[in-house]
Amino acid sequence: MHFFKKKTKNMELPTAEKLRPDDSFKHIAFIMDGNGRWATEQGMPREYGHSAGAKTMKKVCTYCCDIGFKACTVYAFSTENWKRPEKEVNAIIKILENYMDEIIRDYKSYHNHFKFIGDLSVLPPELLEKVRKVESLNLEYDQVFNIAFNYGGRSELANAFNRLASKGVTHASEDDISAEMYTAHCGDPDMIVRTGGDMRISNFLLWQAAYAELYFTDKFWPDLTEDDVDEIIRVFYSRKRRYGGI
Ligand code: IPE
Ligand code: IPE
Ligand code: MG
Repeated sequence: MHFFKKKTKNMELPTAEKLRPDDSFKHIAFIMDGNGRWATEQGMPREYGHSAGAKTMKKVCTYCCDIGFKACTVYAFSTENWKRPEKEVNAIIKILENYMDEIIRDYKSYHNHFKFIGDLSVLPPELLEKVRKVESLNLEYDQVFNIAFNYGGRSELANAFNRLASKGVTHASEDDISAEMYTAHCGDPDMIVRTGGDMRISNFLLWQAAYAELYFTDKFWPDLTEDDVDEIIRVFYSRKRRYGGI
């Protein structure tokens, strides 16, 4: 499969100190965890942590796209996060809406396009319209920032199997299934990063994570910096990916 044929922003030249993503590291994904604990530590409500987390998301993902990742994916809201108090869920949806407004206003300052992954049918129609508008912007750029919202890996797989069945496919190949995934446009993540100290996947990119490198840090998401991304890249290149070989 050939991804990323379109226009790409000229990336920063690699320096001796800073490794830059190349063809072996196209796609980085983040499980942005720890917003609530970050806020609690400061004696603030959890919602404050989500606002701070949104700022970090914008900073870190803009950095990732600008230094040359072809795809950057963030886990913003899971299919399980509806279990949270209504006040917190509403605050997260409001943050998403503000972010959409901001992109619609400032899209020219981004050098990537945007894609949502997950079941967005639950969003209020006005917000869904803004999301679709955002997805229609900057399509001349090759690099993509994927936002996983109301995303669950199991739900994604169940939907994929149901779609294949409705097409009459009775024997699906691995490629058939990959093609039905939300990430068909950008391929699997090369590395999945989870902040916040827990070492689990929490229903994120289950199919796509088959051979992803995993990176865990105790830092809470709002504290993640561009320097941490540089360190993550360094760690990625120190790993030996064998894919079952020797
Ligand atoms: C991640 O941070 C953001 C979402 C799940 C929406 P959390 O809100 O899970 O923060 P912690 O893990 O409770 O600290
Ligand atoms: C994972 O974080 C989901 C997102 C980051 C959106 P959670 O905080 O929901 O995960 P668990 O509950 O610790 O597994
Ligand atoms: Mg959490």
